[in-house]
Amino acid sequence: MTAVLYPGSFDPVHNGHVEIVETAAKLFDRVIVAAMRNPSKANSLLTLDERKLVLQETFAHLDNVEITSFASLVVDLAQELEADFIVKGLRAVSDFETELQMAQLNQAISGVHTLFLPSASEKSFLASRLIREISKFGGDVSSMVPEPALRALRERHSQ
Ligand code: PNS
Repeated sequence: MTAVLYPGSFDPVHNGHVEIVETAAKLFDRVIVAAMRNPSKANSLLTLDERKLVLQETFAHLDNVEITSFASLVVDLAQELEADFIVKGLRAVSDFETELQMAQLNQAISGVHTLFLPSASEKSFLASRLIREISKFGGDVSSMVPEPALRALRERHSQ
């Protein structure tokens, strides 16, 4: 039984993330999606609990997908969950440069390898930061995020 950890900020989860989770769910027996607190992204829009809730609703249709949240190192969570691999999505070469360094560091400090899944080209422009910005100014992001994320964005931006 192969278990993988898919960590991310997911602030909010978007359709590029959904594609990665759906692919991982076909490839592996157990997929754990973890909403992480990323200290380099201090001004999150949704709280960690809100992001976890949105993820739970988004992936409720996938039996082998579990949701958690975590506020420390990805590798600590991977070891705690006994995950065989970390999974990351790649949109472009720019992602690869940072993700390769993180994968190598994570492997060096924990022995856990990272597997990369390329995102489909029609989703490779999606980024949570840009989606937050469009939504903040009232733009339509309904084609970019799953329904639970859209509701969370609308609630947040109507306040
Ligand atoms: O790009 P994202 O979605 O903001 O990714 C967040 C995260 C934490 C998954 C990514 O930054 C990562 O893999 N970092 C590795 C270092 C680590 O474990 N950070 C945890 C927070 S201190």
